[in-house]
Amino acid sequence: MGLKIAIGGKGGVGKTTVCAVWAQLFAEDGFDVLAIDADPNTNLALAFGVPIKESPEPLIKMKELIAERTGASKDTLGAYFKLNPNVSDLPEKYWLKIEGTEGNPVKLLVLGGITEAGAGCACPEGAFLKGLLTHTILQRQEVVLVDLAAGVEFMGRASIQGIDALVIVVEPGARSIDTAKNIARMGRELGIKHVAAIANKITKVEHVGTIDSQLAEAEVPILTNIEYSETIQQADLQQVSVFQACGELVKQLRGAKRGLMDLVASSDNEAAGG
Ligand SMILES: Nc1ncnc2c1ncn2[C@@H]1O[C@H](COP(=O)(O)OP(=O)(O)O)[C@@H](O)[C@H]1O
Ligand SMILES: [Mg+2]
Repeated sequence: MGLKIAIGGKGGVGKTTVCAVWAQLFAEDGFDVLAIDADPNTNLALAFGVPIKESPEPLIKMKELIAERTGASKDTLGAYFKLNPNVSDLPEKYWLKIEGTEGNPVKLLVLGGITEAGAGCACPEGAFLKGLLTHTILQRQEVVLVDLAAGVEFMGRASIQGIDALVIVVEPGARSIDTAKNIARMGRELGIKHVAAIANKITKVEHVGTIDSQLAEAEVPILTNIEYSETIQQADLQQVSVFQACGELVKQLRGAKRGLMDLVASSDNEAAGG
């Protein structure tokens, strides 16, 4: 089974950017990779350099498919639906293959998320999303990277139980740090074994210390510190693949990925008594 990684954090901190680059790096290393966009505001395809008009429609918007799989019809909506819809055939049907490395193409699955306030969600869409995430996390062989919705709410509405590692992106700012701590706590409550952070958009070295000490309190190790870079911003503006356009970022995230693998390996050794 490939490693299952979820990427969280406040909105705009760089989750999607990290997810796209890591997906390509795992592919480059020869892994079979499945990248999942689980943010209601779907834009992972863009970070891979897929033009907007070619971006796949999020599965959460496919009303008929959801109705078919959950057994919910328009008139019974909310009244009766399957809590465990069969979705195991859907990744193959709907993923988009992203080339860009010498390895296998990254398989991108655009799920989307539920945006309605308070959507916990006892609705067919909620069951469908949860079913797909659970399937990909627990049953797929690929390395799976999940680009999560911003904030902490996703924890209630979709299951990320079974994830091996939760990586939280944080930028210099109290709100982002606070969100990171809350996500870390909830992740641990859900039983996620490895929780780590990436500090992004650093403009002043002193900020690294602040983030460091705050996250140390929450026992969240920082895998790398990434500076604010115009190249990264430009890649977004010009709708090109960050992996291809931002060499320096790729280098840093390669190091961060190694750090995460070490973290995972070291505690697995502990568990084995070694
Ligand atoms: N280190 C960085 N320097 C400059 N811009 C960045 C950096 N990291 C991300 N960005 C830009 O910030 C914006 C938000 O990043 P994104 O990855 O979409 O965040 P999130 O998925 O957390 O909302 C994008 O325009 C992205 O290009
Ligand atoms: Mg995003």
